[in-house]
Amino acid sequence: MQKKILITGAAGFLGSHLAKKLVEKENNFVIGVDNLSTGLLNNLKDIIDKNNVSFIQADVSKKEIIDYKQLQDVQEIYHLASPASPKFYQAYPLRTIAVNTVGTQNMLELAKRNNARMVYSSTSEAYGDPEINPQPENYRGSVNTWGPRACYDESKRLGEVFCYEYNQRYQIQVKVARIFNTYSAGLRNDDGRVISNFVTQAIQNKNITVYGDGTQTRSFCYVDDTVRGLLLMMEKDQAIGEIINIGNPQEYKIIELAHLIKKLTLSYSQIFFQPLPEDDPKVRRPVIDKAKELLGWEPIINLEEGLRETIRVYRGKMGLDMNGELKIEN
Ligand SMILES: NC(=O)c1ccc[n+]([C@@H]2O[C@H](COP(=O)([O-])OP(=O)(O)OC[C@H]3O[C@@H](n4cnc5c(N)ncnc54)[C@H](O)[C@@H]3O)[C@@H](O)[C@H]2O)c1
Repeated sequence: MQKKILITGAAGFLGSHLAKKLVEKENNFVIGVDNLSTGLLNNLKDIIDKNNVSFIQADVSKKEIIDYKQLQDVQEIYHLASPASPKFYQAYPLRTIAVNTVGTQNMLELAKRNNARMVYSSTSEAYGDPEINPQPENYRGSVNTWGPRACYDESKRLGEVFCYEYNQRYQIQVKVARIFNTYSAGLRNDDGRVISNFVTQAIQNKNITVYGDGTQTRSFCYVDDTVRGLLLMMEKDQAIGEIINIGNPQEYKIIELAHLIKKLTLSYSQIFFQPLPEDDPKVRRPVIDKAKELLGWEPIINLEEGLRETIRVYRGKMGLDMNGELKIEN
């Protein structure tokens, strides 16, 4: 008997990596739902023709989604749909609010109807611009409701509240993953997130744009580690009704990241400073004790290793050689 698994946001960065991992098992049947607002169908090209995959182009914020025939009897739901890059969520703030609130409630209703398990992708942005570093799950955050990041941060937080209420009232087996910055070459070049920006700029020998003075910190998790964390969250009963940080606790200053990428790409790029965007968090680093204890999870790919692979794949995608010149294919 195949297990029916729904991934919302399946054509996006994390969703497509997760889908590829899940379809490896023939007794999984994976249904991807995506409105293709920031995701690309091309991300699913390697698996779309397989017998155990289907794709539906639809908006999960619309109520009708709950009644889609193909989604009945679903046993597991990974709710990943939502723009994740500031560039995109700030371009579509109202749709971002809708997918993380109404969309999350729709998925919880679908879980309720089908007695399905659900993993909700929340974010480290739920901590806002944190006053403590590192951030454990019981830190309540410092988030501004009145600014350009609020549509994402606050709607993700309200999504968590929906999960809490459905767990308490209806015993829905929901788990909340607070995901920290995740990367690989699967990020769109034009995605606007820091690693895709820096690597794309460095391999073309263009200016590397650092916002602020670069002393703000982030923690970067390679996509394989994050996806393994999400799979464990779905699998483990101990994670039901829990919020768990999924991220890499190695913390880097943004300026260090810029220098590291410059070094690994052998780039001639100059580092170029621009004003820091409003409400940009100054620090970001997860406490992962809970993930270790409840899931037996911790990241195993360090930044340099993950970046080398990211750079290799981006170079190939952009048709550039080590010197940033266009490769001439014979
Ligand atoms: N990648 C990260 O570093 C990171 C960090 C924290 C949280 N997250 C969360 O993980 C999830 C996936 O992030 P990602 O990096 O893959 O982003 P992404 O933008 O690459 O993917 C999101 C996908 O959701 C789809 N989508 C958006 N609104 C939709 C809607 N209303 N209906 C159906 N599909 C919709 C998009 O088309 C896209 O394919 C998001 O919820 C994001 O908030 C990601």
